[in-house]
Amino acid sequence: RVVAVIMVGGPTKGTRFRPLSLNVPKPLFPLAGQPMVHHHISACRRIPNLAQIYLIGFYEEREFALYVSSISNELRIPVRYLREDKPRGSAGGLYSFRDYIMEDSPAHIVLLNCDVCSSFPLPDMLEAHKKYGGMGTLLVNKVSAESANQFGELVADPETNELLHYTEKPETFVSDLINCGVYIFTPKILIAIEDVLKQKKDRANLRRVSSFEALQSATKAIPADYVRLDQDILSPLAGKKELYTYQTLDFWEQIKTPGMSLRCSGLYLSQFRHTSPHLLASGDGKKGATIVGDVYIHPSAKVHLTAKIGPNVSISANARIGAGARLISCIILDDVEIMENAVVIHSIVGWKSTVGKWSRVQGEGDHNAKLGITILVKPLMLKMK
Ligand code: GDD
Repeated sequence: RVVAVIMVGGPTKGTRFRPLSLNVPKPLFPLAGQPMVHHHISACRRIPNLAQIYLIGFYEEREFALYVSSISNELRIPVRYLREDKPRGSAGGLYSFRDYIMEDSPAHIVLLNCDVCSSFPLPDMLEAHKKYGGMGTLLVNKVSAESANQFGELVADPETNELLHYTEKPETFVSDLINCGVYIFTPKILIAIEDVLKQKKDRANLRRVSSFEALQSATKAIPADYVRLDQDILSPLAGKKELYTYQTLDFWEQIKTPGMSLRCSGLYLSQFRHTSPHLLASGDGKKGATIVGDVYIHPSAKVHLTAKIGPNVSISANARIGAGARLISCIILDDVEIMENAVVIHSIVGWKSTVGKWSRVQGEGDHNAKLGITILVKPLMLKMK
């Protein structure tokens, strides 16, 4: 059996996603009309013998309660939110819920960062992981040499795919092959985390008895029960025939800023063409408006039949799009009103905002939203990356 765990972080993380994360936890921000984490959950659903999906984070439980109960019913797979009492790092968080994770005696644990956008090729990755026979397999991707230092950079054996060397966000270039934040482990990973926790506690105790000065610096340092998967686990295990890599040839992006979310929304919309074509609006559907490229329109939204929408547009619940409006590359959130003949391009229009008649809201981004976008959140209009 397989158990999936999605690390969703908490309100103190993801500050670069503001102002969009002020109204809704970042993992629930809609991309292609579905909460960010929904794309991970749908991907996990395709894993054979999946027993449970856990979301681990330090948001208030009530923020996820409605979503996890509705998605459990819809997909008929148990999805539970587990709240950490404090941030313990990606590995520390996983370890603190080991009893829940091991409840179904899984042979494999799938672990996903929430803030990545991917086609998540999990069934193929699982097959590769079983073939390698190691403790863990990392999804990896090639990126440009200039951007590689924002990620964990790694070196893998081209023949065996073994992870030979791993450095988290190095200052000097190591490799353009990077860690995607998508892993499959055997339960042995929990023992590896336990070992690191013990070492950290022993070191902290040693410092405590050795000198008062050292104690002072130790208290300022990372707490002894905070374990990061990348630095504390992956780096030391590289080159020990325990970790292997699986390279994705499909799309993969990080979602740290609002601009990145617009691009990722577009990637998921184009994936819908193959996975969920029923979610895409078609020009001759009941909405009647002219549709260009990939567009999602929530069933409760009202779009005037003379509006022209797309490509890469997603329109959330109860939005109203007036006559002659033109929307290109944008996310329109709940209860927004776009009035007659308004134009919205490369922008995110926040909850309950109104864009007046004949106005133009435009970010400077290209089609991939790589440059700045405009964000309209009442009562502000911001230009952001
Ligand atoms: N529950 C929980 N608790 N989640 C956490 C915690 C924690 O203490 N710390 C981080 N997370 C979650 C975040 O919400 C995010 O989804 C993910 O874990 C990674 O967060 P960061 O710690 O911010 O790391 P990063 O995104 O800068 O880098 C990691 O991911 C990259 C891929 O996107 C690293 O693993 C890199 O090596 C990797 O390239």
